[in-house]
Amino acid sequence: MSDQFPHYIEFRDVNKTFGKGEKDEKHVLIDSNFHVNAGQTVAIIGRSGVGKSVTLRHIMGFLKPDSGRIIVAHEDILGLSDIEMNRIRRKVTMVFQSGALFDSLTVAENILFSLEQREDYNAQNKDDVVEGLLKMVDIWDARDQYPSDLSTGYRRAVAIARALAAQPQCILYDEPTTMVDPIMSDHLTLLMLRLKTQLKLTSIVVTHDLDLLHRVADTVVFLSKGKVAFFGTVPDLHRSQDPDIRQFLELDKVIRGDISAESPFRTGVAGEA
Ligand SMILES: Nc1ncnc2c1ncn2[C@@H]1O[C@H](COP(=O)(O)OP(=O)(O)OP(=O)(O)O)[C@@H](O)[C@H]1O
Ligand SMILES: [Mg+2]
Repeated sequence: MSDQFPHYIEFRDVNKTFGKGEKDEKHVLIDSNFHVNAGQTVAIIGRSGVGKSVTLRHIMGFLKPDSGRIIVAHEDILGLSDIEMNRIRRKVTMVFQSGALFDSLTVAENILFSLEQREDYNAQNKDDVVEGLLKMVDIWDARDQYPSDLSTGYRRAVAIARALAAQPQCILYDEPTTMVDPIMSDHLTLLMLRLKTQLKLTSIVVTHDLDLLHRVADTVVFLSKGKVAFFGTVPDLHRSQDPDIRQFLELDKVIRGDISAESPFRTGVAGEA
């Protein structure tokens, strides 16, 4: 670990504007500051379009900030060459919403493809490794199927298995439980929890799913109007008096039907039942 960069991932005063000087100029990240320690999970939350995915794309080096510093795997990634960035991307990998799988390859072949990219690839035990990964994410029964035959949730599980084949230190998940049924959502949440506790993986999870957040996150980044409006622990998030955060948390309760008797949302239905 570097003394200079003790956090595994860190944003230091990161700014990013799209369409600079144009009519539709958009400040997506304004003095963004947060960090993730090795082995920990941070959840990034906030309304649609606040810059959650843009934040992840900066960590992968797919986007460059206008100013500020971005530390990934204890290294300052600004100024790294493509080759050096690929070295970082072997440590930190991203699971996309779509899964981004190869449609012409089976599930097992998709995972094998990732395994073959490893420097220490060993063809002799490849079947065992693929089998182990399929079992780890509990999709052994889908090994010979093609991505197009699978549900969204299964495709995400395959994408996680494929990411794990590269033996990363850190996984970035972009809305892993969006658009999947509650059982699959629970399954993916447990899987992320297992990777954290058993493999000690560091992770960042962009999510609207507060159940996932409560079960997996150590800390939370709440993005609002281009800024990190909150960065802290989950209990502190619930204690926050920021109106945007309160609204975000209340809305989730309404969606889940978990509304307490004293909630303003109950007004008018008192005396029912
Ligand atoms: N390459 C780009 N060029 C111009 N604008 C972009 C680019 N990428 C993202 N944006 C804009 O930046 C803003 C933030 O986008 P981002 O995808 O990070 O949102 P998000 O928080 O992930 O939202 P969602 O919850 O809908 O996925 C949006 O207004 C988007 O249109
Ligand atoms: Mg997004």
